[in-house]
Amino acid sequence: MNQEPAMITLRFVTRNQHKVKEASSILSRYGINVVMENSVNKVEIQSDSLEDIVTYALKLNCINWLVVEDDGLFVDSLNGFPGPYSEYVYRTIGLRGLLRLLQGSEGRNAYFKSVVGLCINNEVKLFTGIVKGKLSEEPRGSGGFGYDPVFIPDGYDLTFAEMGEELKNKLSHRSRAFNNLAGYLTRILDSIQGA
Ligand code: IMP
Repeated sequence: MNQEPAMITLRFVTRNQHKVKEASSILSRYGINVVMENSVNKVEIQSDSLEDIVTYALKLNCINWLVVEDDGLFVDSLNGFPGPYSEYVYRTIGLRGLLRLLQGSEGRNAYFKSVVGLCINNEVKLFTGIVKGKLSEEPRGSGGFGYDPVFIPDGYDLTFAEMGEELKNKLSHRSRAFNNLAGYLTRILDSIQGA
């Protein structure tokens, strides 16, 4: 019998529309839907570990297909700062403040890391994505959000904010983490359908 693949809708707990849009366009290729879930309260602990932040947030409220993501920008010459504190740094000193911290320092290497958590059968599964690059001298470009105007991925001269959504989605930490999640879901769906 020819069965249609089961359709999954993930409920992404976030208030960030950009993240939902990026996740949707990455996962739509796998036939996975994403909706924004803002009725569930995302409890964020303070921790140096993105994995711990995501796990804690999901464990409190583990409902099937709930997804939480936490990200950070890790700057090598600042020993990984701001990392899990990226949101706070963005709101306080902003992009120019971060770039000022690098004045006089040789290295501008940095990476973005995304940790995506999925709740399934009362268990939290984690998926990670990293993109390496460097920080620009000045903010450049108007696309994307957050630190996009100052992040230049390896192999490119454009910042994420200059390159447009399609290219960013091929390279980004978020796309790598969500592609890993999609791989996992595809495998479990295949095993259910083949059973
Ligand atoms: P959070 O995961 O929403 O707490 O994000 C941490 C910080 O990283 C926030 O300031 C976000 O704006 C920023 N951030 C997360 N993902 C991206 C991205 O894809 N591009 C640029 N900034 C990002």
